[in-house]
Amino acid sequence: MAKEFSLTQQEVKSVSTKYRKISGVIPNDETLEQITRLREAEPQSMRGQAPIIWDHAEGFSVFDAYGNKWLDFSSGVLIANAGHGHKKVVEAIIRQVQKPLLTTYCFPNEPRIKLAQKLVSLAPKPLNKVFLLSTGAESTECALKLMRTYGRKFGGDKKSVIVAFVDSFHGRTMGSQQMGGSPGGKAWIKNYDTEIVHVPFPDGFRCTDTSFDLFEKTLAKLNIDPQNVAGVISETYQGVGPNFMPKAYAQSLRKWCDKHKALLCFDEVQAGFGRCGTFWGFELYGVVPDLFCMGKGMSGSLPISGVIGRQEVLDLYGPNEMTSTHSGNPVCCAAALASVEVILEEKLVENAARLGVILKRELSSIKDEFSSVIGFAPVEGLVGGLLIIKPGTKEPNHDLALDIIDGCFRRGLMMFAPVGVGGGCVKIAPPLCITEDALVEGCSVIRETMRELIKNKSK
Ligand SMILES: Cc1ncc(COP(=O)(O)O)c(C=O)c1O
Repeated sequence: MAKEFSLTQQEVKSVSTKYRKISGVIPNDETLEQITRLREAEPQSMRGQAPIIWDHAEGFSVFDAYGNKWLDFSSGVLIANAGHGHKKVVEAIIRQVQKPLLTTYCFPNEPRIKLAQKLVSLAPKPLNKVFLLSTGAESTECALKLMRTYGRKFGGDKKSVIVAFVDSFHGRTMGSQQMGGSPGGKAWIKNYDTEIVHVPFPDGFRCTDTSFDLFEKTLAKLNIDPQNVAGVISETYQGVGPNFMPKAYAQSLRKWCDKHKALLCFDEVQAGFGRCGTFWGFELYGVVPDLFCMGKGMSGSLPISGVIGRQEVLDLYGPNEMTSTHSGNPVCCAAALASVEVILEEKLVENAARLGVILKRELSSIKDEFSSVIGFAPVEGLVGGLLIIKPGTKEPNHDLALDIIDGCFRRGLMMFAPVGVGGGCVKIAPPLCITEDALVEGCSVIRETMRELIKNKSK
């Protein structure tokens, strides 16, 4: 089981900068009391984050109710791409709520009409249909169903194999978790679907063979006939890194899918809506998938997700055969539409691309300074990671990763708990509206925290 943030009350060193304001005891008595009450009512799986009760959040700042302010490097969990609580998103939600029109099931509503058109206009050709859902896992489940249905319809019953990648994450429902490639997540599944198989992800760190040959060789080893592959799904970047595949690999994968009439699906739940410095993450690879999943940064706020694809894929099911109760909820659609407009109008994709260069510089310099405990520091746009390792190995060091995040938290820098293989990744993902000086300040907090931790450990 992963370690938890400590609830020990600590008098923190006061911090007061333009972007951070922290003082007193963290967590204070009121916070501790409320968190304790929450823990009594919720499963322990919900207590994985640092001991703060978010009171409000704006732009790239998060506040508690006691005057503390954190510089946000989490975006929630890569949600608030347009910035927390953007005025235009808030106004769009209020307008829709006050109308009032809060739900319509699958009866059409105006925000859904506008959002569907907007998303299709932003998708590359020939992807021209979008199905709206509520969560990321629902979107990857839907992609799984569509890939298999398509395979069987056009290739016969045997064309049912789904190829996914080791160490991927597609959500926590049955199908999405089986596609996810981490063994720990499958303990609850008895009859594992043997037609979902995993190949190594060419990250260049844990898997040093980044050639496409490895994909084909692995399928051969698993006795998979390529003709039986209905689809290949990959996160555009693996959240555990963030790990990106080489462009040449992605292009070979596209060709392989075409050759074997398999659908290619990217899971853009994290990578979409500007995160990587391109509107869609897969633009980095110069390939167009047959379908892709989205969620998280789509509305930057309310729960909404979706699948975009070619008509012949999205139209596999007839009227009322592929629906969801909250699909196209008018309030969520209004929020998503406003958020997408903010991302475009405020040129946040361009900001992510520009500041991505700064983030890369900062994380490389941190990696150079702490080379014995940082194995890898990938960055693209405004998503980066520090893979914390035990010296001289590639073994994740979860304890140190947690200590770094905890230390930063007590200095006014907010990151979510470590992710990735063995919980060793300190992930950096600020809202895309962050400024250069705030980004640099946040990175200097990581540096300062690591200096202190490493100094104390060597004493
Ligand atoms: C790439 C990816 N796919 C799917 C999901 C699942 O999304 P949700 O938690 O909204 O179900 C996540 C969530 O972290 C994700 O990062």
